[in-house]
Amino acid sequence: MRQLIAGNWKMNGLAGAGAAIAGAVRQGAAGLACDLVICPPATLLIPLAQALAGSPVELGGQDCHAAQSGAHTGDIAAPMLRDAGARWVILGHSERRAAHGESDSAVHAKVLAAVAAGLAPIVCVGESEAERAAGRHEAVIAGQLAAGLPEGFAGVVAYEPIWAIGTGRTASLADIAAMHAFIRARLAARHAAGAAARILYGGSVKAENARDILAVPEVGGALVGGASLDAAAFLAIGHACAQDTCIQANRG
Ligand code: PGA
Repeated sequence: MRQLIAGNWKMNGLAGAGAAIAGAVRQGAAGLACDLVICPPATLLIPLAQALAGSPVELGGQDCHAAQSGAHTGDIAAPMLRDAGARWVILGHSERRAAHGESDSAVHAKVLAAVAAGLAPIVCVGESEAERAAGRHEAVIAGQLAAGLPEGFAGVVAYEPIWAIGTGRTASLADIAAMHAFIRARLAARHAAGAAARILYGGSVKAENARDILAVPEVGGALVGGASLDAAAFLAIGHACAQDTCIQANRG
């Protein structure tokens, strides 16, 4: 399976700038050895779906509601994302867990809704700095995986240490390797598809550090925030997906 580079634009991007970034990514995507996904604000899904039509670059949402429709002012249902052109959806991002109080059981319900709507979920897990300092990081991730992922989960997991998001700090390659191996073991033990599922690393991934991170065993790609708003940086991360690491990511 190819490595996956997913760009999370968060709450950034008006129509003009968004179209410019997507157009540049489209132009540079040919021949990349990885899969590329852009997760723009929901307002840009329809225009970007048009701008990216016929290209290998796919679109994703940044969240969805657990219900398929109904009286939920301000929320977006998974079938709406799909209808607007998304094929993926980020769920359980730490910013949503922190700012919107999203629990693991809420994430679990959203994963089910996403899959029912034909979306591929990218479920984020990650520990805080205090949890890592206390040596609790594996327990925290194990809990998020156990409670957040439904039986038979076949989507993508993104490991994003909270203290590495938007800070310019990344986990060490050894810590990334250890945590990805831990997540792989948990997934494989619980879900038939878990042995092959892609596990992304996220948190201050940039053109400068992507090659080293993407070469770590069990790293199946990256979830990229800030650098995904710069088409050249995003494409450079895509170019850092070497063919041989893709084969490594596919083992199992
Ligand atoms: P960052 O964000 O790359 O800006 O650290 C990553 C994320 O939040 O997914």
